[in-house]
Amino acid sequence: MCGIFGYLGNKENSTEMVVEGLKRLEYRGYDSWGLASILQEKPAIEIVKKVGKISDFKGKKFAKSHIAIGHSRWATHGGVTQVNAHPQTSEKGGIAVVHNGIIENYQELREELAQEGHKFKSETDTEVIPHLIERYIELGFEKAFRKALARLKGRFAIVVVGEKQETIMAARRGSPMIVGKGKDEYFVASDIPAFLPYTRDVMYIDDNEMLIIKKNGEKAEINFFNLKDNSEIEKRIVEIDWDYTDAEKGDFDHFMLKEIMDQKETICRAINQDTKEIMKVAERIKGAYGTFLVGCGTAGKVCMAGDYFLSKIAQKHVNFVVASEFSAYHHFLTDKTLMVVVSQSGETADVLEAMEVAKKKGVQILSLVNVEGSSIQRQSDYSFLINAGPEKAVASTKAATSQLSLLLMIAYAVAGKLEEGRKLLIESASKINDMLNPRYLTYIKAVAEKIYEQENMYIIGKGENYPMALESAIKIQEVSYIHAEGFAAGELKHGPIALIEGGVPCLVLLSKDENYQDVINNAVELKSRGGYIIGISPENNEVFDQWIKVPDVNGASPIVNIIPVQILAYYLAVLRGKNPDMPRNLAKSVTVK
Ligand code: F6R
Repeated sequence: MCGIFGYLGNKENSTEMVVEGLKRLEYRGYDSWGLASILQEKPAIEIVKKVGKISDFKGKKFAKSHIAIGHSRWATHGGVTQVNAHPQTSEKGGIAVVHNGIIENYQELREELAQEGHKFKSETDTEVIPHLIERYIELGFEKAFRKALARLKGRFAIVVVGEKQETIMAARRGSPMIVGKGKDEYFVASDIPAFLPYTRDVMYIDDNEMLIIKKNGEKAEINFFNLKDNSEIEKRIVEIDWDYTDAEKGDFDHFMLKEIMDQKETICRAINQDTKEIMKVAERIKGAYGTFLVGCGTAGKVCMAGDYFLSKIAQKHVNFVVASEFSAYHHFLTDKTLMVVVSQSGETADVLEAMEVAKKKGVQILSLVNVEGSSIQRQSDYSFLINAGPEKAVASTKAATSQLSLLLMIAYAVAGKLEEGRKLLIESASKINDMLNPRYLTYIKAVAEKIYEQENMYIIGKGENYPMALESAIKIQEVSYIHAEGFAAGELKHGPIALIEGGVPCLVLLSKDENYQDVINNAVELKSRGGYIIGISPENNEVFDQWIKVPDVNGASPIVNIIPVQILAYYLAVLRGKNPDMPRNLAKSVTVK
């Protein structure tokens, strides 16, 4: 949930670099932030901690420093206060720690340390870490860190610096952290965009590994160790092909809009996969005794759509389960089961936990992720990258349509019609490219202007558009805070229609398929109760009060139908004065349960 960034190298403005790096990671947490720099001239640690968004920080001139670490926080333990912001420091103040994750045994450790006279300033679980390191410091900084790590239970990515130490140390267990290698400099961060302006050379850190970056004159050295046996580990340098500008919002007011517009290209990138690999996975799905599609939130709704794709196109029965509920199905898992997990970040804790349950039963795991080297990708037996490029707005947009596209293509492959599926998707991508023009945005903004003061909205869909009705509700809720709910169109008469009253906006997701007339009939029922009908459909219908046209792409309709809803949600948020990139109470990449 939090963003970590650390720098050690030959540049003297490491603190400014950390501030800029944290701004690029702000999508991971934005309630408070802080940094610690080892001052070149003193030497001493300078700590800065603030409540609020780092993007609002107008900056100050920092003292020269080659080593600095920082953190943007999304509070879990302890309220949003300056004291609770990271870095957390030791009793004497000479050790500073930033941390992402949860130390499950922090209460026990806190009591133990308190009995020895340690006084705690914050309410965080993190604060026990610098205190523990300080407790063992006579053994040396490195050994003290190892000893402290051995006492921690839970998930973490930890980065530590010490006064008079020309070193950054870091360790990972269950929370994301990677290393960037520049020229005579290293970066350690929660995600690649943090250091993309400086390097594209990445070294991945696995769970239960620690690293030490040391300054050696003008040079910097890095060593990786296995925490279980202290053995040293060789790491490969991987050059990633993300571009710096991919992770910037450029001329757009918000990342969300930029990422919506990126969908002009991302569908084609998602389906540009090795045919042999797709066929291998299709065979695996065909041969599996039970396939589970598992994800959370938007990725979960994508999985649900995947369930429809496989049923409709390949006549293959699969099970959709939200990741946090997956363990309830452990009875049905065997070494012949296949689990297909979908995750943009590749770091979602609920998904990782579901994978642990599956692995214990010998289940094979296929993942669709956007972040290369992420925990989910690394823990899968097979993995496809959806290649959507960095997604920084909290609301998932381009990752969702990329995941949908790849799942649809896989369904066609299972049906033995891969080329037909690829053709449909390429045609859909080209229609999306035409659709995403300034006139379309202006048109949808005008629809948003008509409804933005409403407090309730309902969305209906049928077949593969039912999961998209649920996804539409997530999009609208999370960025505009309008109470939005999605329903299977046919379910209206079984309860939800009681909610409809005069003027309530109702989105109706349609495709020109066998469900069209049924859904139109449901829209008529909504209208007769006073609903204000906004049809998202390839063709107009007299029941619509507003018509948002989408291209006719047949079975790929969930992919095109969700895009105008993303745009509508974006404008609803903006018109209501909300920042769509940083919704309250939410953060990108949910690395806690
Ligand atoms: C909503 C949204 C979330 C994520 C969910 C899973 O717009 O982004 O619902 O879809 O937290 O995240 P990933 O895909 O990273 O596993």
